Amino acid sequence: MACLPILLYPHPNLRKVAQRVDVFDENLRQLVTDMFATMYAAPGIGLAATQVDIHQHLAVIDVSEEKNQPLVLVNAEILASEGIEEMEEGCLSIPQINEKVTRKEWVRVRYQDLDGNECVLETGGLLAVCIQHELDHLHGRLFIDHISPLKRERALKKYDKLQKRG
Ligand code: NI
Repeated sequence: MACLPILLYPHPNLRKVAQRVDVFDENLRQLVTDMFATMYAAPGIGLAATQVDIHQHLAVIDVSEEKNQPLVLVNAEILASEGIEEMEEGCLSIPQINEKVTRKEWVRVRYQDLDGNECVLETGGLLAVCIQHELDHLHGRLFIDHISPLKRERALKKYDKLQKRG
């Protein structure tokens, strides 16, 4: 088990679009194990492969308090969504920046598990928001893309200052 380095904004590879996973092998399992270790250590509630510079359609999530409900999403896509939810979001690739983002309140997601089995998940609230955030990463999108230009400029100025300070 190893912690992987997380790409930080504005690394250009955060804008890469992930490729479909076709091979469900031991390498994929190892990558998922390392991604969970990286996410739990950060600590965070979700991590997309894009953030560790691996451009495969893969994300790990655990929104539980006890950190005992790991969810692996391979080749996930949102089939249906409803409602509107506004939640404050952060991102391990843009540390210390939190902004309110408007998302869908409920989603139906089709994905594959680590054995390649097709699964469907219907969920709302924090998990639905987290899934949308991680799927965005796999399409090269970041949560700051969803906020107004003025708020984004302000947030990125603050981020630059924090980064310079280390
Ligand atoms: Ni993120």
